[in-house]
Amino acid sequence: MNNQLTVAIDGPASSGKSTVAKKIADDLNLIYVDSGAMYRAITLMALRKSIALENQEALVNELKHSSIDFKRTEDGQRVYYNEEEITMAIRQNDVTNAVSVVAAHPDVRTVLVERQREMASSKSVIMDGRDIGTVVLPKASLKIFLIASVDERAERRYKENKEKGIDSDLTILKQEISERDYKDSTREVSPLKKAEDAIEIDTTAMSIEEVVEKIKKIIFEKHPEFDK
Ligand code: DC
Repeated sequence: MNNQLTVAIDGPASSGKSTVAKKIADDLNLIYVDSGAMYRAITLMALRKSIALENQEALVNELKHSSIDFKRTEDGQRVYYNEEEITMAIRQNDVTNAVSVVAAHPDVRTVLVERQREMASSKSVIMDGRDIGTVVLPKASLKIFLIASVDERAERRYKENKEKGIDSDLTILKQEISERDYKDSTREVSPLKKAEDAIEIDTTAMSIEEVVEKIKKIIFEKHPEFDK
């Protein structure tokens, strides 16, 4: 029997995907793959190395000579680009505002999707993003689609930023989130879209804990061997 578990969590920006996915990964001892961090990593490198965000060929070339790794530490999961730690750097506003342009390039996506599939090829993983259930892992054991209102998501991002010492303005955050939703849902390649077989959860009025418990319950119903 194959008891590899692959959980796909998709949804718009700040719908709670990564917090929820991290918690479930810890509780069930799964590998957490933050696919958004990979798009952010190449965006950070483009900004640093002055590669034009529109220059798909140069971005792909940069990616092909690089490694993006996740490592679990006592202080949570860390992201590395060619061994350099970039966990915090990829969360800065300049990266957040530029990443949609980079993520819209089909060839950039091809390289990263291949790496994401590789990470999920032999291990139990929980992967979050926009196209995990539709493109990256169409045969995932379980697909979840998280949604929340723009106001709620802006508040969450505001609080998150504050905790990280990043200054932000709530009205601007709302605007940025709406713009990112629009760009992510209307782009030609792998737009943000709920997979037909995904379970939708509206997290607007739910706590993180409630969302985590709900998803775990769904996992255990299908895969009782993970309920230890
Ligand atoms: O989830 P996030 O905010 O870290 O994602 C950063 C950006 O990357 C976001 O604009 C959408 C894009 N993205 C994507 O296109 N496909 C994914 N699987 C994950 C993220």
